[in-house]
Amino acid sequence: MNELIEILNQWGTRRVMVLTDTNVAGLYPQYFEALSSAFECRTLVISAGEEAKNLEQLSRIWERMLDFEMDRSDTLILFGGGTICDVGGFAAATFKRGVHVVNCPTTLLAMIDAAVGGKTGINFEHIKNCIGVVRQPDYILPANPAFLCTLADSELRSGFGEMIKYALIAYPELFEQLGGMKTLTAEAIRPEWIEWCVAYKQKVVALDPEDHNERHVLNFGHTFGHALESFYLSEDMPITHGEAVAIGMVFESQLSMQHAGLSEMQFFRIKDLIGWFYDVPEFSDDLLKQLKPFLLQDKKNSGGEINFTLLREIGNATINNFIQIF
Ligand SMILES: NC(=O)c1ccc[n+]([C@@H]2O[C@H](COP(=O)([O-])OP(=O)(O)OC[C@H]3O[C@@H](n4cnc5c(N)ncnc54)[C@H](O)[C@@H]3O)[C@@H](O)[C@H]2O)c1
Repeated sequence: MNELIEILNQWGTRRVMVLTDTNVAGLYPQYFEALSSAFECRTLVISAGEEAKNLEQLSRIWERMLDFEMDRSDTLILFGGGTICDVGGFAAATFKRGVHVVNCPTTLLAMIDAAVGGKTGINFEHIKNCIGVVRQPDYILPANPAFLCTLADSELRSGFGEMIKYALIAYPELFEQLGGMKTLTAEAIRPEWIEWCVAYKQKVVALDPEDHNERHVLNFGHTFGHALESFYLSEDMPITHGEAVAIGMVFESQLSMQHAGLSEMQFFRIKDLIGWFYDVPEFSDDLLKQLKPFLLQDKKNSGGEINFTLLREIGNATINNFIQIF
């Protein structure tokens, strides 16, 4: 906390607002208490989960920032999962054209993904992340693995899907280590794994902050993943983002065999590892037909061809593979 206080002082911050959700606030009520001796502090608690990413909550955050008389030297601390990072990051980026933002991620997904990279926003008219901006956080607190101990299993599994993704696109040694895991628990997640994922995302984001090219590598598993997420939601059987990505990675590994030279042996190793932790449906013509409308909506498509990130081998991905799958 001392380092954070020093940073806030360097920014000339006088007021600090901690934005969090009802679950995190209840579990870690005193986490930022040390700041109150150095700054004028307030906490704003919003509802937990995806439904907080809407205009109403956003407007509430702006109102409270206005009421607190925050100015551009002041700081909003985002203390929570990806939802808090997204809605809070957007509120901070747009309030008086931008106050300082500190991310303090509390879910595995936020630690290795949502808190890094600067994509912020809310859902609008049932379209996910429809309104938003890219604005890098000014500081990200190092991930605290202790937060993972209170996470629901389903949330841990969701973040773990993204961790497998980093292994497949960048870290063959991480893939080996994940393969040695028998059960997914918070204690089994090694802190250095989180550090590797964050370091890789930061490297890619630095090359392509606005997501025009190099950053597409992070989309491995996501083309099918997003389609699966939307399809299951439309069937009233929602699955988590990371679970959808995990299944998507199996399907996209199968495409990688046909279009990017992934060996059959590596494909089966990927399928086995993901199948150990997640229920992976058969990649059948029937399922493909059901996913079609969602796949065709992807904004990275071009002329009916779908843009995939594929694997040449474990740890080596190739971007912008336009494939006609229908
Ligand atoms: N901006 C990006 O780059 C990016 C990347 C990936 C995902 N996202 C977004 O992130 C959101 C999903 O993030 P998420 O999975 O972190 O979800 P989340 O923030 O909704 O958190 C999931 C649940 O876990 C609870 N929670 C958070 N930390 C906890 C803890 N330490 N202990 C117990 N419970 C805790 C939350 O209250 C919530 O109920 C989605 O809206 C997604 O679109 C954004």
